[in-house]
Amino acid sequence: MSLMQTEYTQAPPATPNVMIIFGAGGDLTRRKLVPALYHLCAAGLLPESFAMLGLDRLELGDESFRDRLADTLSESVGSAYSADVWERLRGSLHYMRIDMLADQDYEELCERLTRIDAERATEGNYLFYLAVPPSLFGEITNRLGEVGLLHESDSDWRRVIIEKPFGHDLDSAVTLNEAMHRNMDEEQIYRIDHYLGKETVQNIMVFRFANGFIEPLWNRHHIDHVQITVAESVGVEHRGAYYEEAGALRDMIPNHLLVLLGFLAMEPPNSFEAQAVREEINKTLDAIIPLTHEQVLTHSVRGQYAAGTTAAGEAVNAYRDSPHVDPKSRTETFVALKLTMDNWRWAGVPFYLRTGKRLAGQYTEIAIQFKRAPTMMFKDTDTDQLEPDMLVLRIQPNEGIQMSFGAKIPGPQMQVGTVNMDFCYEDYFGNKPATGYETLIYDCMNGDATLFKHADTVEKGWEIVQSVMDVWQALPPRDFPNYAAGSWGPCAAGELLRRDGRRWRRIQTEAATATDCTGSRS
Ligand code: BG6
Repeated sequence: MSLMQTEYTQAPPATPNVMIIFGAGGDLTRRKLVPALYHLCAAGLLPESFAMLGLDRLELGDESFRDRLADTLSESVGSAYSADVWERLRGSLHYMRIDMLADQDYEELCERLTRIDAERATEGNYLFYLAVPPSLFGEITNRLGEVGLLHESDSDWRRVIIEKPFGHDLDSAVTLNEAMHRNMDEEQIYRIDHYLGKETVQNIMVFRFANGFIEPLWNRHHIDHVQITVAESVGVEHRGAYYEEAGALRDMIPNHLLVLLGFLAMEPPNSFEAQAVREEINKTLDAIIPLTHEQVLTHSVRGQYAAGTTAAGEAVNAYRDSPHVDPKSRTETFVALKLTMDNWRWAGVPFYLRTGKRLAGQYTEIAIQFKRAPTMMFKDTDTDQLEPDMLVLRIQPNEGIQMSFGAKIPGPQMQVGTVNMDFCYEDYFGNKPATGYETLIYDCMNGDATLFKHADTVEKGWEIVQSVMDVWQALPPRDFPNYAAGSWGPCAAGELLRRDGRRWRRIQTEAATATDCTGSRS
């Protein structure tokens, strides 16, 4: 199983390999991948026999490539930066110019890899990281396949990492999976959903399956409903062109939010081996009942932000005024869904999901609301005033777990108030600098696919949202923009829960005054 915090310093270095990054001149390499390699190097988790080969269109030599990375690295890793660690890593970084669509360049790549392999004793193990637009995934893997670079033998391995988006709907995801499978086996493909790299997401499994007291409560008998919130205070920034095509639903639900739901709702796997965990996740996603076209009208909400004021008091533009966005855009920047599951454990328990840009805060959390006690004996407490028991898994920031429950208010009367028990990760484990990619890269180097998505998982994600996409496309929104930047989203999101006699949990933000028509409870 994957690298866990307590094992961090004890885990052995990964197996020898060359990591080949397509798109090494881009942002992802600079901001995430090289800092992640740096953290692995600092923790002694990169093998001695390691090399990274960056590939891109730019004309660069090894030295100038290293210098470019050095310029941004110290900034990315902050106070964790050590010149010694960088010197160690620096010598293993190489660069080659490539036209990713030119067949002859792949012959040259083979030669270069053979040389690096001999120099660095990397044993013929290659990890290809495709940090490029998805339209190139098939083109690159076809060419790698043709020159034999995806062919594994008994003594070496070949793996390919790709990142979302894995298609833009069910059909395109199936086509992409087929294209990848033409050149390699499913076991060689490592699909990253960076939410799976978050310690707190992995901790959902530990919390549930390493603690005996949770399991008896984890079902429809005790849980009233679940709320999953991924709120972002940022807007679309410079990603308008991508976002216009994607929208909040495609960008976040079939991947990140369903990852959270999968870990939360899965049955205990037989082991923490990749196959066992992925099977259970797939079974869980299978149990989600796709919304019918009629249900889409009542169980889903979409929104787009208008101009407004952030928590910090900064006036910000509407989505439609963002660069590369159509001034009449109908793309949603907010989505809320009510999903239910057709299985023994969760029948009848609603899972409410919401995510959006330019909301009142930057918070990712799962709130599990328990059923009320069957009778209320404490007559001096107004039952309406008593908050239901709630368990909150804070994914980010301020990672931790909070339980709120009733306690006696001191005094002669028997009155009950709501109190919180709070565990903060940082208090126990400190704050290790990480990009979220460390565990994923380390796991891939060791052939552990537990935290990567299987082709079936990707397709199931799209199946779940396909009817929503269809209905939304057929019925364009008429009320956009319908929420102010810096608020908690459109009023209809509150209505979604109010109809069921429930409310969104109010997440404590600096912006206590943020416009909130969702009826959230504190
Ligand atoms: C990405 C989405 O996958 O996840 C972005 O494309 C989003 O739109 C981001 O902002 C959120 O990730 P995190 O780790 O900041 O919650």
